[in-house]
Amino acid sequence: MSLHNRDEVIMDWMRGYYAHSGYSYGCYAATMPAHLRWVAMLHKHIVPERNFRYLDAGCGQGFNIVIAAAMHPESEFVGIDYMPEHIAHGRRLAERCGVENVTFIEGDFIELAENPATLGEFDFAVCHGISTWIGSTSRHALYRMIGRTLRPGGIFYNSYNCLPGWLTMMPFQHLIKLEMEKDNSIAAIHAARRKIEQIGEATTTLSDAFPQMADRLKHLDKQEPAYLTQEYNHDTWQPAYVSDVIDEMAAVKLNYLGSATMSDCFDNFLGPDVKELVTQQPDLRMREQVRDFATRKNFRTDVYIKGRPHNWRVELTEALRATMVMVNPFTPRPAAGQPFAVKGSNSTLQGDHDTYTRLLDAIVALGEAATVGALLKAEARGEANVIEELSMLMQGQWITLRLAAPNPRGSEICSAIAREVSLGAPYRFLPAMNAGTGIPVGDIDFILCSLLGAGIPDDQLAARLRDTLAKLNRSLARDGQAVTDPAELEKFAATLIADFVNNRASHFRTLGVL
Ligand SMILES: C[S@@+](CC[C@H](N)C(=O)[O-])C[C@H]1O[C@@H](n2cnc3c(N)ncnc32)[C@H](O)[C@@H]1O
Repeated sequence: MSLHNRDEVIMDWMRGYYAHSGYSYGCYAATMPAHLRWVAMLHKHIVPERNFRYLDAGCGQGFNIVIAAAMHPESEFVGIDYMPEHIAHGRRLAERCGVENVTFIEGDFIELAENPATLGEFDFAVCHGISTWIGSTSRHALYRMIGRTLRPGGIFYNSYNCLPGWLTMMPFQHLIKLEMEKDNSIAAIHAARRKIEQIGEATTTLSDAFPQMADRLKHLDKQEPAYLTQEYNHDTWQPAYVSDVIDEMAAVKLNYLGSATMSDCFDNFLGPDVKELVTQQPDLRMREQVRDFATRKNFRTDVYIKGRPHNWRVELTEALRATMVMVNPFTPRPAAGQPFAVKGSNSTLQGDHDTYTRLLDAIVALGEAATVGALLKAEARGEANVIEELSMLMQGQWITLRLAAPNPRGSEICSAIAREVSLGAPYRFLPAMNAGTGIPVGDIDFILCSLLGAGIPDDQLAARLRDTLAKLNRSLARDGQAVTDPAELEKFAATLIADFVNNRASHFRTLGVL
């Protein structure tokens, strides 16, 4: 039986996808509407800033779409997933946080593709980490559903495992599939890894052929089981060549617009030789395929458009210039003389310290939020350079976009999400309501955001933090050691709170979390 049609003959609802346990609660900056709008403009297309409809196809636990919906209360969000526990979680989170502009549908792409009218039309559709994990029947249905529900001019974000980067892990995934015949849980991954190690002890043939495999296997130790099983444990796991994806999209009226990863939007980051090779390719498919081979790409974050862009030049310039950016107070600047290093696909950009510092200073000088237009005036340099540098500052997280009309209920929603963490939810992000993106937040900061949001006065924070941790059966750790002595614990909790109040609370306020 060919790998590609396994899902056609698997009769249960999972269709070869590993849906035996829930996925992780991720938040992905590249899927956020404000990010997609910026990226679309880099590719010479304008999508709406407000009052849009947004579809998350395969929304998983729904954490990402609830964060996105919370930041755009006037817009409408729809999350689809066929795992009931994912939909139940998404609905519960939205309800508990008072995010009313998101609807969750428990549905299968194959069935929904036959009835797209029930979904309405969308300006944005996103599909993060789905299309190369499901079988070809499900994937074609997914693309058909997107093609039929996206508005003309709407954009589709599709991120997926691609070749040649994933060739390295194909033997490992094949062993997992064989091990899954005995036990389809995380145990299959451990067993496959042991088998690769045993092969390595007997001969270097495999590691010579796939030299990056050992490093990738070491990396598994740092990844959550919920992520790993839904990365690897599928009968239908199949990384794709970008040229094949471009063809499949064209069949449903979707045309490649460009990458959603900032460093991939600028060919300069390819280095002169690869840039020349890529840009001299006669057509788009070959250009993107050569780019992937030359950069050994393993993951793509692609943006497609239904139809083709035709925004007029002045309109595009004005939309770009009206966009606002702000400094991300959490990201320190590099030390004097050190470059602003941004990792791209096959190289690290060494952003000139003085140029990038001047740009950051210009943003600060313009106040809480700077429009790109005002920055261009202040900088008096080539527009293309400034746009590219701003994009790199965004990728390096030194700056973020700034929403024109942040949700006035933002801090209330953040505090409700933080309260879930105090109750044991394993979340790791909060929406930065002013910035239109999720930001990573540590456990202690989550609890403190929840306590501050509930109006707990500063002098009671330490006791309440200790109480919450005790209920969660968690201890405070200093240098990796649990602090157990009660007097020590009291002192350490007070230090952590002072650090939060003095060093981070104002950053959370700037970003619209508190
Ligand atoms: C790897 S997870 C990604 C989830 C989410 N986008 C994220 O990145 O957190 C893939 C998701 O696709 C869903 N899925 C797989 N096949 C599906 C189908 N035929 N119809 C609807 N959902 C499907 C799974 O339930 C799972 O939640």
